[in-house]
Amino acid sequence: MNPLQVAPHTLARSLGDWQGDGPLHRALASGLRVLILDGRVPLAARLPSERALAQALGLSRTTVAGAYDTLRADGYAVSRRGSGTVAALPGPSLSLPSVPGTEGLIDLSRASPPAASAVPEAVRGAAEDLPRFLRDSGYDGTGLPHLRAVIAAHYTDRGLPTAPAEVLVTLGAQHAIHLLTHVQLNPGDRALIESPTYPHALDALRSARARVVPVPVSAEDGWDTDVALEALRRSRAALAYLMPDFHNPTGASMPADARERLIAAAEQSGTVLLADETTALLDLGTAPEQNPTVPEAAGPQSAQAPASSPTGVLPPPLGAGVRGGARTVVHIGSAGKLFWGGLRVGWIRAERGLIDRLVSARSAFDLGTPVVEQLATARLLEALAQVRAERGELLRAGEQTLRRLAAVHLPDWELPPVAGGISVWARLPQPGSSALALAAHARGLLVPAGPRFGPDGSAFERKIRLPFTSSPKELEAAVPLLAEAWGQARGGGRPPRNPRRIPDTVV
Ligand SMILES: Cc1ncc(COP(=O)(O)O)c(C=O)c1O
Repeated sequence: MNPLQVAPHTLARSLGDWQGDGPLHRALASGLRVLILDGRVPLAARLPSERALAQALGLSRTTVAGAYDTLRADGYAVSRRGSGTVAALPGPSLSLPSVPGTEGLIDLSRASPPAASAVPEAVRGAAEDLPRFLRDSGYDGTGLPHLRAVIAAHYTDRGLPTAPAEVLVTLGAQHAIHLLTHVQLNPGDRALIESPTYPHALDALRSARARVVPVPVSAEDGWDTDVALEALRRSRAALAYLMPDFHNPTGASMPADARERLIAAAEQSGTVLLADETTALLDLGTAPEQNPTVPEAAGPQSAQAPASSPTGVLPPPLGAGVRGGARTVVHIGSAGKLFWGGLRVGWIRAERGLIDRLVSARSAFDLGTPVVEQLATARLLEALAQVRAERGELLRAGEQTLRRLAAVHLPDWELPPVAGGISVWARLPQPGSSALALAAHARGLLVPAGPRFGPDGSAFERKIRLPFTSSPKELEAAVPLLAEAWGQARGGGRPPRNPRRIPDTVV
């Protein structure tokens, strides 16, 4: 990810009255150190060049260079090739490593917001809870009873009565998908998947050697229910992987009648529906409140309508209140987008028999979920309403910025409306998504091409996923680069001779 750039005049304003006794460069270093310690200059943000800051402050460049030297010597700044001087804190390097090949790039391949503000406090609370667990081995292949109870209560509150024994805590939703596909599928089994879909679910199905049956979902019209039911009937798929609320990448949500028909059809064909809710609770809070499956609360339905406002009632999970729902649907949840990807906690809600089989199978893959992260996740789930309200604000700001910038720089791209989720599935005026991703990469911007989201690699050349989980500042840097890249890609410009391999993790 590209470092944030601190503007020289902003920094000069933040410094205020910084001069004191003693040499100027020391006083300046001391003022800058206070801003870094206060968080007013974010860690890893790029400081202005010596010349630019000297100009903004009316100083000589030597004074600024001396101040930067002092900051570096004290550990409050580091110099990075290609990034200039960036703010730091003394001590061992505490940053996340970059994925190889992404160093210095603006990264739109990870549609995942930074940690919710409640995370540090939840982790501190978890550390206080920890002594009660230290006499045990710490290997936990099912999930702490407390967290399983909190997750069970979460589903019960949303209209799907659940016991703690019907919950398995995992290492994130991807781990849950991997476990479920390997336990539920035999090589050669058919598996229904939405097209487009979340790419690593497709990877998991392929690694379980399933035969994939795609069913279309569009950002504009959602699911074609008749086509999906027909595909179920004909394929008698063993499993269907779905994102019924704020589908990644389109943002679409499945209307109530489609849910009911799908569950009835799945019961008939003996198909287990995996409902991935990783993005389900991330609504923007910009559409009228509604509830897609609980009849008393039914409101207007549309493919994009959100299930609730971020501060309001939680949306019912797929199958809640529907006959056979609890049996036919297995739910996957995650702390990843809701709280923070760095927690690496997810879960599966399923009938007890399946949970037991998953627990038995799990030890071939991993030996359990870390205790501290589970304790923190339990605390965060208990503060869900507050976290969702904050998430709604962040996502709204990102979405509005994205639309504003696209209208200026990419006026002929169509960005369908979304009511929640993490991204807009944009429509290009002509095919060229793969060429666009290559041209963007050559300009320092990582964005996965549309075909990465399709079960059939050749589709979606007219689509590109634009995440609104990035900060407005990052989007302001990214969208003009995207427009430049599109200028080259649409003109059929020659792709770079030796393109670097584009990293392939898409979240
Ligand atoms: C729909 C969907 N499912 C699962 C995952 C993986 O989530 P986790 O980080 O919990 O493994 C993601 C992450 O991007 C996702 O978008």
